[in-house]
Amino acid sequence: MAARIELQNVLLAPKRPLRMLPFFFGILIVVLLFIQFARVDHESHDRRLSPGFVQTERMREYRETFATKRESSRIVPLNEDSIEFAKLDISAVGKKMLPRNNMEVCKPIHGKVMVFTAMDQASVKVRYGLAQRSLQCYLASTNYTFVQVNLDNDERVNKHCKHKSTYFKKHCAAAVYLKDTDWMLVLDADTAVVNPNHCLEEYIDDRVDMVFYERFFNWEIACGNYFIKNTAQSRRFLMEYANMENEPYNPGVWLGFDNGPLQLLIMKYVMPFAKHMIEVCNNMWHSSKSYDEYTAYLLCVKMALGEQRLWPGKLRIYKRAHSWVRDGWLTSNHWTDNDFMLHGWKIEDLKNATNFNNPFTQDFTVSECGRGYSGWNYKPGMKKTAEEIKKLLFDFEKNQQVNHPKQGRTPYFLTGPDIGDCYPFCEDF
Ligand SMILES: *[C@@H]1O[C@H](CO)[C@@H](O)[C@H](O)[C@H]1NC(C)=O
Ligand SMILES: *[C@@H]1O[C@H](CO)[C@@H](O)[C@H](O)[C@H]1NC(C)=O
Repeated sequence: MAARIELQNVLLAPKRPLRMLPFFFGILIVVLLFIQFARVDHESHDRRLSPGFVQTERMREYRETFATKRESSRIVPLNEDSIEFAKLDISAVGKKMLPRNNMEVCKPIHGKVMVFTAMDQASVKVRYGLAQRSLQCYLASTNYTFVQVNLDNDERVNKHCKHKSTYFKKHCAAAVYLKDTDWMLVLDADTAVVNPNHCLEEYIDDRVDMVFYERFFNWEIACGNYFIKNTAQSRRFLMEYANMENEPYNPGVWLGFDNGPLQLLIMKYVMPFAKHMIEVCNNMWHSSKSYDEYTAYLLCVKMALGEQRLWPGKLRIYKRAHSWVRDGWLTSNHWTDNDFMLHGWKIEDLKNATNFNNPFTQDFTVSECGRGYSGWNYKPGMKKTAEEIKKLLFDFEKNQQVNHPKQGRTPYFLTGPDIGDCYPFCEDF
């Protein structure tokens, strides 16, 4: 109030022009400072973006276009400016390769790629025949190597992997065979190819060592299908993962097979400093008495990771329905051009399959497969437009909004202490 009155006095004092001089000098200095700050800010921002990472061609293009835009147009609203910069942020930007067209050759731009599946003796050729044949038909159109391991009698695996559980032994086996390739796609035995017009390179991201995706129905980071690069770091990650079969366990607790450990392992890997929250999520996991309670643990991890989807040099997590695979039952095996693989086909023989909406008119004869679409006998009407699949996913989500377990809806800090159990050391790590 006082300042305003004084200012009025200054402005209303034409007979004392000298008193206005400090006022104008003040404004001049503020304007000059502002210009200087704006320049320094842009420069440091540019510098912050550049080091450390090899920039892709697209990022460079963005930078150049944006630099020209900034020079040619003096009126760039602030929010547009920050959106342009956000697009350059490596942890926010998705990177998509050009899709495969008309079954063309998949260029080995990421080196050797191996597709890896592992089954125990009981499962081999019992429940997964159809999925495996579709995969082999796809592979006939590519140069990827295919390794199908029988976990019970594979010598190389048994030498290094003493794991008791098939679920965990599989990840150890993947670490063993990873040494033979540059990138590996680990697949569940019930993952089928529905649309071969995709290359694995579309989904490999060379800014990271591991590529995961979220499952549609519960936001869980899927553990059955993932890409992994052959590095010492990622082999260590897989071994640590496999060794989590020895996680302490109380009877009656739902740990979620090999799904549960992966969430916590990833959290530890990308945010090792978040000690308290890791402990909170870990406790929720180890006290889950049912799948419904387990979803509270999933939410805890999801809140910790937030919207960041890529940790440079470490891993990337695709959004639901945006990776190379999703559950087939979400859309009753209806598929669209964006779809590549469908998960959850536990069918050995189509003749006695029940409750299975088959996208094909007949089973695969792998010898008929090769370049082009020979061997793929599509049933008319099973392929949909992206718009139609979008509608099906939208409806699924609407249903989910009602049916998702109530335990998976409350943030961890409203179900247990956030500060009360660590004060005054909650910020230490
Ligand atoms: C496999 O690799 C060879 C040699 O690089 C190449 O000529 C051929 O076109 C590739 N085939 C496919 C199906 O990618
Ligand atoms: C399905 O049919 C095959 C023969 O075509 C048979 O060997 C198999 O046991 C059948 N499976 C079931 C679950 O009926």
